[in-house]
Amino acid sequence: MDFERYPDSSFRYLTRADVIEAARGVDIVAAVADALRLHSTGRTVLPEEAYLGWTTPEGDSARLLAMPGALIPDGRPVVGMKTINASLGNPGRGIPRSQGFTLLLDPETARPVVLMEAAYISAMRTAAVTALAVRHLAVDAPRSLGVIGCGPLAQAHMALLVTTVPTLRRVTVYDLERSRAEALGAFIATLPGGEKIETVVADGAREAVRDAELVVPVTTVTEGYIEPDWLRPGALVCHVSLDDLTEAAVLAASTVVVDDWSLVRDDPRRLLGRMHRAGTLLGPDGTPRDGVTAQPGARRVDATLGELLTGDHPGRRDENEVIISNPFGMSVLDVAVADRIHTRAAATGIGTLLTL
Ligand SMILES: NC(=O)c1ccc[n+]([C@@H]2O[C@H](COP(=O)([O-])OP(=O)(O)OC[C@H]3O[C@@H](n4cnc5c(N)ncnc54)[C@H](O)[C@@H]3O)[C@@H](O)[C@H]2O)c1
Repeated sequence: MDFERYPDSSFRYLTRADVIEAARGVDIVAAVADALRLHSTGRTVLPEEAYLGWTTPEGDSARLLAMPGALIPDGRPVVGMKTINASLGNPGRGIPRSQGFTLLLDPETARPVVLMEAAYISAMRTAAVTALAVRHLAVDAPRSLGVIGCGPLAQAHMALLVTTVPTLRRVTVYDLERSRAEALGAFIATLPGGEKIETVVADGAREAVRDAELVVPVTTVTEGYIEPDWLRPGALVCHVSLDDLTEAAVLAASTVVVDDWSLVRDDPRRLLGRMHRAGTLLGPDGTPRDGVTAQPGARRVDATLGELLTGDHPGRRDENEVIISNPFGMSVLDVAVADRIHTRAAATGIGTLLTL
């Protein structure tokens, strides 16, 4: 068959350790900011993600996400896909809840050029989105942060925020498993700049949120529990795990920002998508979902993160407004960061060349 006639092609394989090593030479916040700007100016391709959920033989919830995306900057397009897959029982087995691959293709031949471990990039690009939201939406010189859920995403956030928010002095952490909150505190102390930070382990989620100018929920809940009166005036909630706020908290916020409205709109599972289906959340153009009637008291999505970066939205308007950033998670950010990591890995010989 023709398959045997064609010349072999090779691709680079990067393990998690390779990815982490190559990422040391990459400014992940800058890569994410550039990708958000491209997205905001229509120079990305972001298809709806494919979601496959199942119950594992041991009864846990598991899911596969397939997230293709492309960036069309001046010059060479960047085309790829992340597949990130998770089982809620994994942390109890001592393995990460989620792992997977990010793949980049040659934009000319569409052949794979690099395959790399996905979870590190996914966590760091998500933390970079939070760092950018803090830059544009937080009160001036924020000093206090509340983190709910103390897994890998919480660690990734701390690794970035300790340097990108140099005014940070107090971090209050809470996890259903107290040992994970304590471990996050110990991790913060090891970070460069971590010595300036007092870490407090809270006894409940409300205590973690109460005094915090920055609130980052990184749990695995599917039902909201952060009520509007839990939040102090001026709080910025970076709603990373997407289901921690109650509907009332979203309705009470002064400003709601998303990364991409179409992803939020098309997803039936997470809070904002559910609110849009119920007629309590309107799109950025102020209209309800087709076939849905807007409910009294419904609110609009105010802006995208890209609009903050391009200056099309002013960001925070006063020191007392409560702001929500709801980053659904865009494949184009993984693809953008993976591209920079691949460039660095290829230049420095990191990784292994494999035959397709
Ligand atoms: N929006 C995005 O772009 C994006 C990207 C990556 C991950 N995420 C989300 O971030 C979340 C965290 O990811 P992870 O890999 O760290 O997960 P993980 O399961 O490894 O850790 C989550 C932690 O939260 C704790 N937790 C669960 N429910 C809690 C509750 N009600 N109160 C306090 N603590 C609670 C768990 O004990 C665990 O320690 C996941 O929901 C994931 O889907 C979002």
